[in-house]
Amino acid sequence: MVDVANTGPGPDDRRATLTDRQGHPIYDNQNQRTVGPRGPATLENYHFLEKISHFDRERIPERVVHARGTTAFGYFESYGSWGEEPIERYTRAKLFQGRGKRTDVAVRFSTVIGGRDSSECARDPRGFAVKFYTEDGNWDLVGNNLAVFFIRDAVKFPDVIHALKPDPVTFRQEPNRIFDFMSQTPECMHMLVNLFSPRGIPADYRHMQGFGVNTYKWVDAEGGTHLVKYHWMPKAGVRSMTEEDAAAIQATELGHATKDLYEAIERGDHPEWELLVQLMSDDEHPELDFDPLDDTKVWPEDQFPARPVGRMVLDRNVSDFFTENEQIAFGTGVLVDGLDFSDDKMLVGRTFSYSDTQRYRVGPNYLQLPVNHAKNADVRTNQRDGQMAHYVDRAGENPHVNYEPSITGGLREAHYPTHDEQGPVIEGRVTRKRIPRTNDYLQAGQRYLLMEQWERDDLVRNFGALLAQCDRPIQERMVWHFLLVEDDLGLRVGEALGITPADVARLEPLPGQELTDEDRKRLGSLG
Ligand code: HEM
Repeated sequence: MVDVANTGPGPDDRRATLTDRQGHPIYDNQNQRTVGPRGPATLENYHFLEKISHFDRERIPERVVHARGTTAFGYFESYGSWGEEPIERYTRAKLFQGRGKRTDVAVRFSTVIGGRDSSECARDPRGFAVKFYTEDGNWDLVGNNLAVFFIRDAVKFPDVIHALKPDPVTFRQEPNRIFDFMSQTPECMHMLVNLFSPRGIPADYRHMQGFGVNTYKWVDAEGGTHLVKYHWMPKAGVRSMTEEDAAAIQATELGHATKDLYEAIERGDHPEWELLVQLMSDDEHPELDFDPLDDTKVWPEDQFPARPVGRMVLDRNVSDFFTENEQIAFGTGVLVDGLDFSDDKMLVGRTFSYSDTQRYRVGPNYLQLPVNHAKNADVRTNQRDGQMAHYVDRAGENPHVNYEPSITGGLREAHYPTHDEQGPVIEGRVTRKRIPRTNDYLQAGQRYLLMEQWERDDLVRNFGALLAQCDRPIQERMVWHFLLVEDDLGLRVGEALGITPADVARLEPLPGQELTDEDRKRLGSLG
């Protein structure tokens, strides 16, 4: 019989010595301390108890959404201008100034609904979150691979996610719950037409677009503002999968997209995206048939051209998945000088939600962790203590002063940027109202008409397969919506379900639903 405790390193073994977190060398990592070789164990087994109790706490809560994801690092390089026109005419953000200016980035790609070990073949939006470590502090651009979203008001976010997540009783993602919610939420039609098309299952993360989705602002040197939307275009092109492709991959590999990205970067095939922006003057644009702050809409590129502003290359994998992927924290509130929020009602909700969940998920000092720390800027705060504080953000010259204002060596406020903001003046009564110009069907129909025939066939097949598992009133309401989106879509999904326009002609618009003249004309033609 071999006595394991005696098989340790010989005197010539030069490898580093295992210790506990107190720095004590571990002489035996194979056997607990016991009374005799068969036990019982003793309670002062410090190494054993530390080892097990730390292991017991290895998991932090996974993200409530986007739990499955992977992170890589690289750089963003600014183009500095569009032809003759410098970008600084529109934003004073330093990372866009000058051709070839580089900024370090971290990017986390993700799925939304599944848990952290779930399949990457799911039909699900993909997250595309970029952290720019700029000299003015961090900027997070937290986007998705689809250009629009399900809802336009943050108050509905927990509902849409609950409907999409597994049933609280069966713990199965149930089409009946998903389409129950969606059928009562006409604003999600544009997203659904995207999500159930082949675009709903990207082939992997390297062949995927990214969109900021929400509307932000750019601020110039004088404080003038423009509305802006961001788009990432992969240099390698966009690739998607059908349900059959996805099923075949999923049969053998749940994390194919993480594997693909990791392996590409390891072999030096560094993925690259171009960043483009669409700009609009900062006002309500009454001439448009949609609200520029509505994240269920895209901005037509013939009126608002997409202008390239830089490129991003990912050339480094994580050195540790937990500290750099699980603990990385993005948020829509994380902006730098020259970039701003718009009044988009989703954006304000997101901005609260991200840092709120991260204080819970990672802890109140999550911004001290290396992956989240504003490593290229000076961080000097009067924030102190809290769980897991492991250093004091460099303070002023007097360590006794952790408050402001002070004349005894504390920190002072920054010199205010040259000009105050000059965005539009806003007046209004406090209210709870949906935005005007909801126009929920037009762009969804345009998207359908832009698809190639095989994409439409795939979309109809996907809707048909899931709606076949739903209750009849839900099926009828969805067919009603699809007929308003585009006749062909409604007729084809209806046919798959045995529902004719005449069957749904009796349905009234949903409570409070605003229809356009075009919508009413379509409704009139039912039956
Ligand atoms: C992650 C909330 C809409 C993209 C998250 C997380 C929360 C959240 C709580 C988890 C964050 C964490 O644990 O670190 C919300 C709310 C929304 C909303 C309340 C609407 C009001 C959106 C939209 C997009 C988006 C419209 C796309 C433009 C993402 C991405 C992540 C994420 C990419 C993952 C970030 C990462 O990789 O760590 N969201 N979200 N979310 N959300 Fe949202």
